[in-house]
Amino acid sequence: MKNNLPAILGGKPAFQELVPMVRPVLPQFSVMAGGVESILTTGMVTKGPFMREFEQALSEHLCVKHAIAVSSCTSGMMLTHKALELSGDVIVPSFTFMATASALVWAGLRPIFADVDRATNNLDPAAAEAAVTPQTTAIVAVHQFGNPADIAALEKIADRHGLKLIFDAAHGFGACYQGDPVGKQGLAQIFSLSPTKLLITGEGGIVATNDDALAAKIRMGREYGNDGNYDSAFAGLNARMPEFNALLGLHSLENLEEAAINRNETVTLFQEFLGRLPGIGFQRVRPGDRHSYREFSITVEPGLFSLTRDELALALAAENVDTRKYYQPPIHKQTAYLSYYDGRPLPNTDWLSSHSLSLPMWSNMGTDVSMGICETIQRLHESAPSIHKKLTP
Ligand SMILES: Cc1ncc(COP(=O)(O)O)c(C=O)c1O
Repeated sequence: MKNNLPAILGGKPAFQELVPMVRPVLPQFSVMAGGVESILTTGMVTKGPFMREFEQALSEHLCVKHAIAVSSCTSGMMLTHKALELSGDVIVPSFTFMATASALVWAGLRPIFADVDRATNNLDPAAAEAAVTPQTTAIVAVHQFGNPADIAALEKIADRHGLKLIFDAAHGFGACYQGDPVGKQGLAQIFSLSPTKLLITGEGGIVATNDDALAAKIRMGREYGNDGNYDSAFAGLNARMPEFNALLGLHSLENLEEAAINRNETVTLFQEFLGRLPGIGFQRVRPGDRHSYREFSITVEPGLFSLTRDELALALAAENVDTRKYYQPPIHKQTAYLSYYDGRPLPNTDWLSSHSLSLPMWSNMGTDVSMGICETIQRLHESAPSIHKKLTP
C-alpha cells in the first residue's frame, strides 16, 4: 500500500533516478571522429570549412538565402538589432526567456512589453498593435517553446505601421509554419543551438534572413564589425562559431526531423493521458503548424486539478521528476527590466507565469518515461487533498 503513496507523503519515488528536463541526443564519437581529426590536423579551429558547410546546409533546410552561424542566439539577436540600426522602442513579449529582452537592451533599445495569447503563449497581435507608438521601430516575436507565432497577423501589423519584424526563433528548429520550416518569414529569425534544443552545436546560433544587405552586415558584425580592411564599419562583436561546434551541428542536423517527429508523438501520448485529468491545459497550436516541442509545458488550474502548479512541482520533485516554471518571474518583473516596464496590464503573462509548468521532454523519450510521468501526475491528482494539506502551513 505504501508504494502507492506519493513520495511527498512518505511513499517510494515513482522513479529511482532523476528524470531530467533535458537529455541531449548527440552523435556517436565514431561519426564525428573523421571531422575532429581533420580540424586538428589542419589547425582550422575557427572560420573553416565546417562552418561554411553548416551554413549552406541550413540555408537549404530553412529555404532562406542566408543562414549565418554565430556564437549564440543572444549574440545573433544583438547583431541583428544593431545591423538593422533600430532605435527607440521595440515591442516584445514578457512571457519569454530573458535573452529576448537583454539583446535589445545591449543594442541600446527599449523593450516595450506586450501581452501574450493565453492559449498559444505567443505574442498577441492585438496587444502588440495596441503598444505601437511613434517611437516604435520593431516587433520581436518569439515562437514560444517551439509553437510558431501568429506570423501572418504580425506581418500585417508591421506593414501597417512601417515596423521591422524579427523573430526570436531560439526554440524554432523542428517547428513548421503552414508547412514550411520557420525561418524564412519576417526580416530575420534567430535560432539557438544550445544543448536544450533539437539541433545542437554545444553553444551557437543561426541568423536566417533573405536580406542580402542585412546578412553582409551580420557577417561583418560577428567579426568585430571589421570587413577585413581593419577599419571597423560599426561596433561589432566576436560572435563566430568554432569549427567543432559546426561539425557537431552538421551531424545533429541529420537527426533533426526525427527529433521533431518523436517529440510530437510523445506529446500526443502525454496529451491523450493528461487531457483526461481536470484542470490540465496545453499550448494551442494553430492548424497547419508544427510545434517543435523544444519544451512541453502544461497549465495547472488549481480549482479543477486540486493542486496548484507549485504544489504539483514539489510533489513531482519528490517523485524524481524534474520540472521548470517557465517563465517565473516574467521579464517585466525581473530586476534588470523593472525600469523598462511601462505598467500596462499583462494579465495572460502573469497568469501563465503562475500556472505553467514544463515537464521533461527529450527527442528520444521512451513511453516508459512519458507514461510513467503521466501515471505519477494522475496519482498526485488522486491524492491532492492530502498533498495540499501536507504543503499548507
Ligand atoms: C526564447 C529564448 N531566446 C533566446 C535564448 C538564448 O539562446 P542562447 O543561449 O543560444 O543565446 C533562449 C535560450 O534558450 C531562449 O529560450
